[in-house]
Amino acid sequence: FVRGSLAGKKVVITAGPTREAIDPVRYLSNHSSGKMGYALAEAAAEAGATTILISGPTQLKTPARVTRIDVISAQDMYDASLSAAEGCDLFIAAAAVADYRPAQVAEQKLKKGSEDSITLTLIKNPDIVASVAALPRRPFTVGFAAESENLLEYGRAKLVRKQLDLVIANNISDSEIGFNSDDNAVTLIDHGSTQELNQRSKHQLARELIALLAHKITAPAH
Ligand code: C5P
Repeated sequence: FVRGSLAGKKVVITAGPTREAIDPVRYLSNHSSGKMGYALAEAAAEAGATTILISGPTQLKTPARVTRIDVISAQDMYDASLSAAEGCDLFIAAAAVADYRPAQVAEQKLKKGSEDSITLTLIKNPDIVASVAALPRRPFTVGFAAESENLLEYGRAKLVRKQLDLVIANNISDSEIGFNSDDNAVTLIDHGSTQELNQRSKHQLARELIALLAHKITAPAH
């Protein structure tokens, strides 16, 4: 692993959850901590890349030499990602983007009524990583696949459907790794092969992933 191997490269990473407003005080979200995306941004900057981190709401500190753009909703993250990804070399989607958002955002706080049940209609959010992969001058585009079963099959389906260059698949049925924990274990899936990286800290894993990706995007074959 050669330090500085991403020198002169521009890397854009999404991280954390998104929040989808219901009314001025309520939202839909998930338990993503943002740790994996932040660790990747730190490793990319250490490897010499100009690094932009597009982050949903998290409790984490911005890593050194990383430019952080804060966003709230999936639509905000989409807008920031598409403009930052234009002309970048590597895009890594580590964010846990909400798949759906409320069809309407109430302007005033919703009041409790006499109904015992109410219905919230949701509409689909745009797929950020698939949109980046569809850019005319696309960067090397990497997505995550958090799966609780059929890891390889679902991960490979995501690679093909979203037209990605690489999927980093992790098994979220194991609470020791993945979502909101400090460790992760992943399987890398590309168009030719799979490679397992067993359990280690998200920081160690991020350094190895960045070293591998640096090799892929700077090797003459790509
Ligand atoms: O389809 P699924 O949500 O499982 O795919 C996960 C991958 O796609 C992650 O890399 C995630 O960051 C990305 N994604 C995205 N925009 C969405 C949904 C997922 O970039 N709206």
